Amino acid sequence: MADAKVELIDVHKEFPIRAGEASAVRAVHDLNLDIYDGEFFALLGPSGCGKTTTLRLIAGFEQPTAGKILIDGRPMHGVPAFYRPVNTVFQDYALFPHMTVLQNVMFGLQMDRVPKQEAQRRAVEALELVRLPNAMNRKPREMSGGQQQRVALARAIVKRPKVLLLDEPLGALDLKLRREMQLELKEMQQQVGITFVYVTHDQEEALTMANRIGVMSSGELLQVGRPEEIYESPATRFVADFIGETNFLNGTVNTTDDEYAYVDVNGETELAGMWEDSVKPQQQVTLAVRPERIAIRPYNEAPDDSDRSARAEETNTIAGHVVSVHYMGTDTRYMVRVGGGQAINVRVQNVLGQRTTSFKERDAVILNWGRDSTRILTH
Ligand SMILES: Nc1ncnc2c1ncn2[C@@H]1O[C@H](COP(=O)(O)OP(=O)(O)O)[C@@H](O)[C@H]1O
Ligand SMILES: [Mg+2]
Repeated sequence: MADAKVELIDVHKEFPIRAGEASAVRAVHDLNLDIYDGEFFALLGPSGCGKTTTLRLIAGFEQPTAGKILIDGRPMHGVPAFYRPVNTVFQDYALFPHMTVLQNVMFGLQMDRVPKQEAQRRAVEALELVRLPNAMNRKPREMSGGQQQRVALARAIVKRPKVLLLDEPLGALDLKLRREMQLELKEMQQQVGITFVYVTHDQEEALTMANRIGVMSSGELLQVGRPEEIYESPATRFVADFIGETNFLNGTVNTTDDEYAYVDVNGETELAGMWEDSVKPQQQVTLAVRPERIAIRPYNEAPDDSDRSARAEETNTIAGHVVSVHYMGTDTRYMVRVGGGQAINVRVQNVLGQRTTSFKERDAVILNWGRDSTRILTH
């Protein structure tokens, strides 16, 4: 791909056996990924899945066991970290405590022999960009965590790298500040136009900030896509479970057509869902549906027959009993036990001024949701 900024081709990384360990650690396995010019790419996955290792391979702090890495079309094999057109922002800021903010930001430029005046001008510009124009003469310890993180960002941006690698840069901040910084960082990225590769284990962070997300698990890249693709069409059970909340129902395929597979979930109810991998009758599959896609109504309030036959075309319907109710302010969550014993979580938004029916434990209910909101997963 011509305009890929960072290309990872069949990249593997194994760490050698350490004392007390049975085998080498396979940190990254068979990774193929193109990251495009100017995009905000998030690498998302649980702790230990290989995100930092991937970033360090791009940065040149680690060498791949096998495979190739290209930046700007140039193979990076044998290119030391210092000469790569990338910069890294770490979670722990790594600022020099004895230097002022301005000196911290200028440091890298001075190492590159940029004349002092120019270095200073660029450092001031970078500090304005991260909204710290008045803190130039302070020492890092005189600043809050959020401010220190901004200094670290300014220090990375000031060198105008083609690619900025960020390893959980907001991880040390409290929730409220994180949310603010997420929006600011995103804005900043659009302003400077640098390609961001952003590592996080926080799915919400990835969804709100990234143009595209790569989901990793156990060293493997499971799925790459735009946030809505990852959320609406998770390719595997792991992805569906990791991104947002999902209901999983186990069942057996009865039949299929072009778009849908019809799945028996309890011997009496058939539910339809969109399938992508080939599924065959009799196959055991998992049906995934998001809690906010499900409508809940009283069992005795069944729609009349005409209504039902029209609706049966495109919706899934299943009966059950409410087993728990949690009022969460913005919404109410119901857990409903359906025939056969499986449980389904339902999330109903609490809309101001709208009279909503609320349910209590043991109420008999009917659940409804669209076939197109249902995914059939095979692994
Ligand atoms: N220098 C190293 N030596 C040995 N094992 C390592 C080293 N760095 C990382 N690992 C292992 O590689 C795996 C991936 O780690 P890492 O990339 O840090 O994951 P993440 O950043 O997603 O939490 C883990 O099992 C970790 O223990
Ligand atoms: Mg990490």
